[in-house]
Amino acid sequence: MEYKRVEKIDFDFSAIGFGCWGASGKGSWSNHGDAEQIDAIHRAIELGINFFDVAPVYGCGHAEEVLGKAIKGQRDKVFIATKIGLPWNENFENYNDVSAVNILKEIDDSLRRLDVEYVDLLQIHWPTENAVPLEETMDAMRQIKESGKARYIGLSNFSVSDMKKANEIVDIVSMQGLFNMLEHNATSYHSIPLQYRVTNEVFPYVKEEGMAFFPYSPLFQGLLTGKIDQDTTFSENDVRNQNPKLHGEERLKHLNVLSEITKIEELKDKELYEIAVNYLVAKPEITSVIATVMNKDEVEANVKALNWKMSTETVARIDKLVSEKL
Ligand SMILES: NC(=O)c1ccc[n+]([C@@H]2O[C@H](COP(=O)([O-])OP(=O)(O)OC[C@H]3O[C@@H](n4cnc5c(N)ncnc54)[C@H](OP(=O)(O)O)[C@@H]3O)[C@@H](O)[C@H]2O)c1
Repeated sequence: MEYKRVEKIDFDFSAIGFGCWGASGKGSWSNHGDAEQIDAIHRAIELGINFFDVAPVYGCGHAEEVLGKAIKGQRDKVFIATKIGLPWNENFENYNDVSAVNILKEIDDSLRRLDVEYVDLLQIHWPTENAVPLEETMDAMRQIKESGKARYIGLSNFSVSDMKKANEIVDIVSMQGLFNMLEHNATSYHSIPLQYRVTNEVFPYVKEEGMAFFPYSPLFQGLLTGKIDQDTTFSENDVRNQNPKLHGEERLKHLNVLSEITKIEELKDKELYEIAVNYLVAKPEITSVIATVMNKDEVEANVKALNWKMSTETVARIDKLVSEKL
């Protein structure tokens, strides 16, 4: 395993991390039950993976409980990042609430579900436009840090200007945003407009500040695994139905660029997911690749992808192709 470090965090992050959205319970992604997820987490730890990204909203608390069970007796081997600010009502419908009252309650719920005394990183999942003043939210995050319930504070889906404002209230050490081999400066996620452009704005900022960057949807929700082609359909409850880029003309456009990428000489004999993982690991701004993994085999495959290293020339060729065609 390769490890990466950033100035603001005293930790060596495994270049391959573990995204826990798939631990949301049966019916989410290709989830076959908690035992398979727990096995996958155990195998990940054996292979040197030490970064686990989860959120209360994944399965309305379920993914945090599964992660908590899986790491019993191994707390010292893992860096747990969870999120805050997307609670749900009695019908399990999510809504955005970054008020101090909600945040100070949510952290206690997360600690109970994870069955730990503290989390390593607490990230605000999504910003809310003006609904709650940024100062109120960040002051609550500062209180959580001072109480020792979270060691570090991070953000997710924030604009660079709001990151700067937040950083004046509490030290912000990380940003999580949409990024993968085909989405470099995405303007939307599941039709939600994004207030940041990763390559153009976020990368220079995190580099300058010594912050971590965690790319979500690193495998483009499966498009970069080779399992999705023009004819693939998703089951009724699959989250990918909400991603317009995985449908119709948009999907075709992305698949066409992929077929050009796979013709690059260095990549000709490689599996698509290996190319996608290697491309991300090769980027110095990316701290840990948090693919959602559903089972042991996927964990092993993603770690094995690091058996070779993509050359800087190939990374540059992919960047050029993507900026010209997408
Ligand atoms: N901050 C945010 O707002 C936000 C938003 C989205 C996600 N996230 C985080 O990012 C993580 C990952 O993003 P994502 O869930 O959008 O999707 P993703 O990681 O891009 O794609 C997940 C898909 O890739 C497949 N896969 C993984 N490794 C594979 C391998 N070696 N071979 C074949 N298939 C493989 C999975 O398998 P199957 O085909 O078996 O299902 C799954 O369907 C989440 O777990 C979460 O932690 C954060």
